[in-house]
Amino acid sequence: MAICNQSHFKSISIDPTTNICRTSSSISRINTFRCNSSVASKTLKTEPEPVFTSVKSFAPATVANLGPGFDFLGCAVDGIGDFVSLRVDPDVHPGEISISDINGVGNSAKKLNKNPLWNCAGIAAISVMKMLGIKSVGLSLSLEKGLPLGSGLGSSAASAAAAAVAVNEMFGGKLSVSNLVLAGLDSEAKVSGYHADNVAPAIMGGFVLIRSYDPLDIIQLKFPIEKELFFVLVTPEFEAPTKKMRAALPSEIGMSDHVWNCSQAGALVASVLQGDLRGLGKAMSSDKIVEPRRAPLIPGMEGVKRAAIEAGAFGCTISGAGPTVVAVTDDDGRGREIGEQMVEAFLKEGNLKALVMVRRLDGVGARLVSSSPR
Ligand code: HSE
Repeated sequence: MAICNQSHFKSISIDPTTNICRTSSSISRINTFRCNSSVASKTLKTEPEPVFTSVKSFAPATVANLGPGFDFLGCAVDGIGDFVSLRVDPDVHPGEISISDINGVGNSAKKLNKNPLWNCAGIAAISVMKMLGIKSVGLSLSLEKGLPLGSGLGSSAASAAAAAVAVNEMFGGKLSVSNLVLAGLDSEAKVSGYHADNVAPAIMGGFVLIRSYDPLDIIQLKFPIEKELFFVLVTPEFEAPTKKMRAALPSEIGMSDHVWNCSQAGALVASVLQGDLRGLGKAMSSDKIVEPRRAPLIPGMEGVKRAAIEAGAFGCTISGAGPTVVAVTDDDGRGREIGEQMVEAFLKEGNLKALVMVRRLDGVGARLVSSSPR
């Protein structure tokens, strides 16, 4: 039996034979999550009833890839993300969901589709409703974007994660973490590609390794809590759609690059577990496969990375598909100085204005922030 910290309020134990969660009072350090796709819909015998009339959830921004971990490593960062408000709505056809409202940073509201079939939050919410077998209740969803679209901070994943967790908690939190990640993956597949390195950390928090996609097998990597870790996130005024940035990648790679990147990804995992920030930064900076193809598509990227390292960052790479560039350090103040140098380099070498944030690791992942009981 594995135990996961699925929601902000409780720990959940997963019965490996049914994959159904039960509330537990203790938290285990076992941190591997496996899933046989739609186990939940086969094993939930009765349709669950809503336990709330409305809930509000939050899911954090994420940094995917972390250099050599393309599509299999990611982590969550604190303090920024998307909110989803969900309510039982008698005006919505039972078993369906409607998106009533989208607002937030930049032009998200204008750009995002309110048809739930074409919206990240909507797709994930529908998947969770299907897994739970919801047929008798209609839901209304409102999305508040805290993350800009196409920024490399896991914007689509944050919406999907917040929606998946909101629907699950609305009906008593019956699904496992793995099923929530699968629901998020349905959404990611439609909007940017089948990758869980944003949505898994957005749901689970911390550092996450996706060991396998079929079947889904996720390992949470525990970063020592006593260590200081700051992410310097510099986002230029430039959009890098994930689909376009994926299209720039080779379909085949050479053996020497494969060996190099695997050894760096292994070193990165070891560094996370040991809380070795220098090792983490060194490994993050080392990708020879993806970053070299994408960097030329982000004006000034190479100069920005150079500026970060010269200013004392332990490492620097593209966050997800970009254009945000991420550097790591162990000090908040130094993080701000590194960020200033990176912003300057974006302007000088890429002719792009950029904004900087210094953030810690988010160790919680998607969670309820408020709820109204029935
Ligand atoms: N692994 C994905 C990519 C993350 O780099 O395309 C996208 O945010």
